[in-house]
Amino acid sequence: MAPQPFTIAIDGPAAAGKGTLSRAVAEHFGFAHLDTGLLYRAVGAKVLLGMEPQTAAETLSPSDLENDGLRSPEVAQSASRIAVIPSVRAALLDFQRSFARRAGGAVLDGRDIGTVICPQAEAKLFVTASAEVRAMRRYKELSAHGATDSYEKVLADVKERDARDRDRSTAPLKPADDAVVIDTSDMSIDAAVAAAIEVVKARRSG
Ligand code: CDP
Repeated sequence: MAPQPFTIAIDGPAAAGKGTLSRAVAEHFGFAHLDTGLLYRAVGAKVLLGMEPQTAAETLSPSDLENDGLRSPEVAQSASRIAVIPSVRAALLDFQRSFARRAGGAVLDGRDIGTVICPQAEAKLFVTASAEVRAMRRYKELSAHGATDSYEKVLADVKERDARDRDRSTAPLKPADDAVVIDTSDMSIDAAVAAAIEVVKARRSG
């Protein structure tokens, strides 16, 4: 018999460490992982090249996700601008939902996984940290890849994206009522991973 679906939804604001945490949790449980931010970034990148947002979302293909440029601050901003468009979000919905319910378990990280994509997820986490801590982590990450943006610029970008993600009317960034909030401002990544694994274990046995 195929293993039952089990969805772990990990949401949170920009640069909260969802990616690292999600990969570690997926590996621990042997689940598949989908970084849904990458879908929005890939659409945002195509729009920067001149494509119309809805067409970009409807024609998204796996090869669009294999682009090193997707991690850039320009693409992040473009992603958050196209992410307010309901038809763009609708075009990405089915893929995310079927991924979430695949046999054998799935971890999805994003903004609206626990609230819109998979309200029935068996475990929901909302990972956050202060804007300053998140900006410092992103600044170090970008600098390590050769970017020259200042910390102040990264902080302003993070705040601008958070405001746009929170204030939009379709699928705004917010914790689901039944999400466990993990504030990683003063936590090491290992401690955050351990806390997340405990939450999921409790839901699996509960
Ligand atoms: O890695 P970071 O947290 O900076 O961003 P991301 O997760 O790659 O997401 C980039 C942008 O896509 C976000 O600022 C959101 O506007 C949008 N997004 C969304 O609207 N819904 C999701 N499930 C994931 C990302």
